[in-house]
Amino acid sequence: MIKQLFPYGKPVVGKDLIDRKDIISEITYNVRGGQSVILASPRRYGKSSVILESLNQLKKEGYLVGYIDLFEKTSLAEVAEGLVEAVLSNETNRARDVLGMAKRNLSDFVKNVQFKTLWEDYEIILSFGSKEIDESKLIDDALDFPQKLASKKNKKLILAIDEFGELTDLNSQMIKRMRAKFQRHDRVTYIFSGSQESLMKKLFTSKAEAFYGFGKMLTLNPLPAKELVDYLTRTFKKGGFKAPREVCSLIAEKTKHHPHFTKILSQSILDLALQNKITTINKKLVDDGFKLALLRIKGELDSEWIVLSKATLQKKILKFLAHEKGKIYAKDSFSDADRSQLYFAISELERKGILRKEGRGKYAFINPFFPEYIRLLKNL
Ligand SMILES: Nc1ncnc2c1ncn2[C@@H]1O[C@H](COP(=O)(O)OP(=O)(O)O)[C@@H](O)[C@H]1O
Ligand SMILES: [Mg+2]
Repeated sequence: MIKQLFPYGKPVVGKDLIDRKDIISEITYNVRGGQSVILASPRRYGKSSVILESLNQLKKEGYLVGYIDLFEKTSLAEVAEGLVEAVLSNETNRARDVLGMAKRNLSDFVKNVQFKTLWEDYEIILSFGSKEIDESKLIDDALDFPQKLASKKNKKLILAIDEFGELTDLNSQMIKRMRAKFQRHDRVTYIFSGSQESLMKKLFTSKAEAFYGFGKMLTLNPLPAKELVDYLTRTFKKGGFKAPREVCSLIAEKTKHHPHFTKILSQSILDLALQNKITTINKKLVDDGFKLALLRIKGELDSEWIVLSKATLQKKILKFLAHEKGKIYAKDSFSDADRSQLYFAISELERKGILRKEGRGKYAFINPFFPEYIRLLKNL
């Protein structure tokens, strides 16, 4: 019997991807026409998956493609290097080895006749090995490298910059420089993504920002009910379990159709079913699975809660929402003093990726386990 039916933790592509056809068509359609796009959604809604799948399709159509995730980058030099590596992924393995070698020992590398033609093609690579190189020049060259390579190959390049919002923490000047360069790149179309929706919106739609009007804003929503329930029914069946549609709907409802958390809940249910030798998934198992999944992600929720340790009002708001106490902006919901700070506190919770605005004065938890976690907390 299969024990891991609902793998999670890494982006998924191809047949493992549930739905997302529409957004992938929208991305590929726009970038084919030279229109850059910006994809925003909370963490783990599937942005990286959707971007990687789009790039796979575009690659098959003959485009050069590149992907860089800024989440793990801690300096501008790393960003520059990552950009060059992303673009070099279109080249032969040997061309990529060149970068590694240049970084290890530049002087040996330059003396190596075998690689002479290669490094002359990619003179920027040499800069990465050099200790004296001016970082500012290196970044400028790296930013132009996508256009350079695409021109050389007489092709179009689609470059995805995942978690672009991280750049604002590294250096806001860099964003201005990027815009100045990117807008001159007639052979490169960009896909940007970000997990802070409000920040992304500001960066790309506010007139005061460098990237104002650079591309089309797209939002990634939770998964549609039908496709998610189809997937759950099919996958349980594949593992030898019977899972009635209404039970699968209940799973999807409990996680608010969040792709990542639906998988964690489903895997927990499956583990319980295996343990108890149950072959038909029922509602009781879904409830027990929810408790088990909550335990499994408790560490993560603890850290989110601890981050709020001094933010009393933010905690009050979350408690208010978890206990479904009513309308957040209603007159008697909070004291006058709290009410004057309410808007700011809610914005902070949105910025931290804890809450998501669902409508006027309506906010929902992004992590579907968070309300239950709060309800179980004692001595708040
Ligand atoms: N459409 C999808 N189908 C199946 N699993 C998905 C889908 N979208 C996201 N996931 C799951 O959620 C997790 C987060 O996806 P990822 O693409 O890394 O999201 P993001 O980049 O928005 O943080 C992945 O581990 C994957 O298992
Ligand atoms: Mg991602």
